Amino acid sequence: MSTLVVIGTQWGDEGKGKVVHFLGKNADYIVRSQGGNNAGHTVILPDNRVSIQHIVPSGILLKNKKCLITNGVVIDPEVLFQEIGQLKKSGISVKGRLFISESAHIILPYHKYLDELHERARVRIGTTKRGIGPCYGDKVTRLGIRVIDYITPHIFYELASRNIREKSVILKKIISRKKIEYETYKNYNKLRNFIKPFVTDTSLILEKALKEKKNILFEGAQGTLLDLDFGTYPYVTSSNPVAGGVCTGAGIGPTEIDIVLGVTKAYTTRVGSGPFPTELKNELGELLRKRGQEYGATTGRPRRCGWFDAVIVRHAVRVNSITQLVLTKLDCLSGINPLKICYAYRYKGKLIKEFPSSREIQANAEPVYETLPGFDGDIKGITDFNKLPINARRYFRRIEELTGRKICIISLGRKRDEVIVIDNIPPWF
Ligand code: IMO
Ligand code: MG
Repeated sequence: MSTLVVIGTQWGDEGKGKVVHFLGKNADYIVRSQGGNNAGHTVILPDNRVSIQHIVPSGILLKNKKCLITNGVVIDPEVLFQEIGQLKKSGISVKGRLFISESAHIILPYHKYLDELHERARVRIGTTKRGIGPCYGDKVTRLGIRVIDYITPHIFYELASRNIREKSVILKKIISRKKIEYETYKNYNKLRNFIKPFVTDTSLILEKALKEKKNILFEGAQGTLLDLDFGTYPYVTSSNPVAGGVCTGAGIGPTEIDIVLGVTKAYTTRVGSGPFPTELKNELGELLRKRGQEYGATTGRPRRCGWFDAVIVRHAVRVNSITQLVLTKLDCLSGINPLKICYAYRYKGKLIKEFPSSREIQANAEPVYETLPGFDGDIKGITDFNKLPINARRYFRRIEELTGRKICIISLGRKRDEVIVIDNIPPWF
């Protein structure tokens, strides 16, 4: 038995969905512990259909797996309703397999309007406008409405009307109080009845699973550089996507975590605003976007693309206590020659080797690159590491050296089994 945390080491979209789909085969439980429907986890099903999960763990696509949405997640009931409907249409039943924490917080229409308003009036973060920040904001300021409150009508009406009264003052520039009320209450009964059968204390399920020595996979969302504490603040999300977020977000202690797998794209992408030292604002960046189909799975926005940045991944290795890395999308670099890896930054003539906290340095740091020879050919079907072109192996080894962690799996291509499994893999894999 073991517990495995899959997290993103960059700015999200590292390929966590595929990794979960691949490793999840041997898990009993798959758990989302933070974030909300700002996530977009793309999985290619065996019949080539594309499935994108935003709120339900992508483990739901694997037969017989139990999936938990725990207390650290923020849930938009409307989105949950739609996503489960979509799954049903694809022949996937969630009955008896999906469990939702009573303590998770609920995203309501006014959170989405506030997200929109903040984007106009304050620093433009380039959020997904899903109401994530305002919902976590209410949680922290103790105004939030939890799932257990939501399914208890008299409590829900009391809390929602108080919040609407307060927030409609700020929101009046873009929407009237009447309209917010209408949107908040119009589908309430339908959504409450829908969500109710899934609601439980998920930490008790986890406790039992741990006692029974089950395999538990925590499906990360977002990435380390989007972490509220360790990311490029303020250009971050409003939760803690780092490994530590699993403890507060799911209700287990740190001693229960065995393995922390850091998912790393072979180059770097970012969607939304904020510093990105290795960004390529040229044809090469466009080529990467095209090759990697780098368009947001949630908002459809084109992702910004750039060279691999070992400084941020080293930072991720440290703040997550990553045990092994998974390298994704190596195939997208084929034909690009030479390849570059950023190993440090330069700022005002000084060499910086560790990721800086200063927003000024983050925004103006010049990447310092080393150059490696590129490789050619379609490497997607390769399953034996030694059959990779020598320069692809060199690139791989250099990432291991610069980040200080071994890579246990290489993901090539979008399909589940397009992978090379190397050594040091999780014990139950
Ligand atoms: P997955 O799980 C990439 C980004 C947004 C924005 C910032 C804040 O697919 O890796 P928010 O709506 O969370 O308040 O927006 O965070 N962001 C993501 N970027 N992948 C994600 O999730 C993201 N979730 C949020 O683009 O820059
Ligand atoms: Mg994504």
